[in-house]
Amino acid sequence: MKEKNLNVIITGASRGIGKALAIEYARKRAAILLLARNKGKLNEILKLVIEAGGSGYVMKCDVTKPEDMQRATDFIVWEMGSIDVAVLNAGIGGSGFIDGIKLEDFKKIYETNLFGVIHGLAAIVPVMKKQGYGTIAGISSLAEARGLPGNAAYNSSKAAVSHLLESARLELKRYGIKIITVKPGFISTDMTVRHKFHMPFLMDADNAAKIIIRGIEKGKRIIAFPLPMAFASYLGKIIPSSMFEFLLKLIKFKPEG
Ligand SMILES: NC(=O)c1ccc[n+]([C@@H]2O[C@H](COP(=O)([O-])OP(=O)(O)OC[C@H]3O[C@@H](n4cnc5c(N)ncnc54)[C@H](OP(=O)(O)O)[C@@H]3O)[C@@H](O)[C@H]2O)c1
Repeated sequence: MKEKNLNVIITGASRGIGKALAIEYARKRAAILLLARNKGKLNEILKLVIEAGGSGYVMKCDVTKPEDMQRATDFIVWEMGSIDVAVLNAGIGGSGFIDGIKLEDFKKIYETNLFGVIHGLAAIVPVMKKQGYGTIAGISSLAEARGLPGNAAYNSSKAAVSHLLESARLELKRYGIKIITVKPGFISTDMTVRHKFHMPFLMDADNAAKIIIRGIEKGKRIIAFPLPMAFASYLGKIIPSSMFEFLLKLIKFKPEG
């Protein structure tokens, strides 16, 4: 019997990790709903998806707007009948200094990184619950391990995403819904291109997408990579604050403005 093609929904599919995920899923003949705010870019990605052997649709979707996420979910169910995998990937970077705090920046980062995932869960979980199966992978970050000077908004938004996904994983297992937390290290995309500091173990988005999809297929709870960075992040998480502060001093950590 012919294997059923996967129906996949990806937020933030217009560039970076989301684009790479779309192309990698297309190689697996998936049907993909590509979501982002820039529809022109999404149309370009759809061409690449079709060239790679997949199929799909594009839809303008701002993840900070729950109604956009709901419309996209209704559309995929209407057009494709089911959702096998949802990758809630859309996110933004940006500094977040407490001294001279810029409330608008904090709100934007939280609305995109955290509420973007919450809006995705709110729209997609009822569909998967009805189906009795489905996988939702949310993109957090290895940066969630600790707070860093200048990174309060981003790091705390990702810490919240990790905890949100863990709760969801524990709650939704009984409905056959698998929740996966993805924690990448430094990936070469528009988000990191502005960084002036050295980014250890910087990985390209295509490799990151391959690792993420392999992890999703294996049904891992957490996909943390690259390994040396995942290990460093884990150590960073468990060491006492005094040692963490000493290490920051030792490496002369300087926040970027
Ligand atoms: N790059 C890294 O080193 C790294 C490391 C760890 C985690 N991550 C996480 O990985 C995810 C993807 O990051 P990336 O590096 O691929 O960044 P990117 O190249 O800047 O791409 C971000 C994507 O998110 C979309 N997006 C942003 N705001 C949105 C909104 N309000 N509604 C819908 N889509 C929105 C963008 O599309 P539009 O602008 O067209 O809407 C774009 O497609 C993010 O969650 C990021 O935090 C990245």
